[in-house]
Amino acid sequence: MAGAAAVDAAAPGEAAPSAAASSVHARLRGVTRVYPAGPAGQPVHALGPIDLDLRRGEFFSVVGPSGCGKSTLLDVLGGLAVASAGSVEFEGRPVAGEVPDGVGIVFQEDASFPWLSVYDNAAFGLRRAGMDEAQIRERVEHALSFMGLRGFTHSYPAQLSGGMRQRLCIARTLVTRPRLLLLDEPFGALDQQTRLLMGDELLKLWRDTGATILLITHALDEAAMLSDRVGVMSARPGVFLDVVETGWPQERDSNIVSEDSFGRITGRLWSTLRAESQKAMAYGQAAAPQ
Ligand SMILES: Nc1ncnc2c1ncn2[C@@H]1O[C@H](COP(=O)(O)OP(=O)(O)O)[C@@H](O)[C@H]1O
Ligand SMILES: [Mg+2]
Repeated sequence: MAGAAAVDAAAPGEAAPSAAASSVHARLRGVTRVYPAGPAGQPVHALGPIDLDLRRGEFFSVVGPSGCGKSTLLDVLGGLAVASAGSVEFEGRPVAGEVPDGVGIVFQEDASFPWLSVYDNAAFGLRRAGMDEAQIRERVEHALSFMGLRGFTHSYPAQLSGGMRQRLCIARTLVTRPRLLLLDEPFGALDQQTRLLMGDELLKLWRDTGATILLITHALDEAAMLSDRVGVMSARPGVFLDVVETGWPQERDSNIVSEDSFGRITGRLWSTLRAESQKAMAYGQAAAPQ
């Protein structure tokens, strides 16, 4: 149901957000995205209209059926794509056409350069920005040791496991000290145990940096475990059908998967997502409506 947004709170142990936590870091209003020419040559209404306030310092995840517009949402928020209608703001300034200063993006694909060492991969963006080597060294060493790659500075990506390569991709973004970190299915290619452990590292990073995080994931358990809030998107064009407040304390880790409320949260996510995923599957089998 396009345009619907049932936003309320099912909150195991919910605490009222503090004044700082409730201040708006990024704001989307009436955001839609229509691709002029989809695979069949027809315009594709991929997203929206979306209204969303990301609170400063929160961990917000987005789940939704395949093809519903999740990556499109991230691209529009990160300045990689321009909204067809509506407005996007980060720290009170409009976002359009380029990645704003203070925003870092991590993709699912392994975006490391195979011909560069771990150190040089992590330093790449800062060198391009013209930062001096002493400052680069300080930032790169900090980011690599934070992501558990300190002993691998001279290795090449091919010598790392999938999980380590993904940590390198996060480190490459971390060196820019993002205040808003956008992650598009960053752990999608990893096995379940590695994903949960990477989730723990992401939570630590979130606590230590104070960054606002928007995570796109297809894994309900990942969304439920990591987030302060989880937005559930409809089938394309994606709109938020539900936003669930998890109520987790800031000090949390993957052990919360054994809590009763974890099961209630994932159950609620799935009850909304199930029908939408069925619709998305049906679209895939017939000509997709625009
Ligand atoms: N560059 C593009 N041109 C045309 N259609 C696109 C383009 N990128 C994505 N789409 C379509 O927009 C819809 C949403 O895509 P996307 O945001 O990648 O979905 P998700 O990340 O949720 O899987 C899909 O139907 C996809 O085929
Ligand atoms: Mg995607």
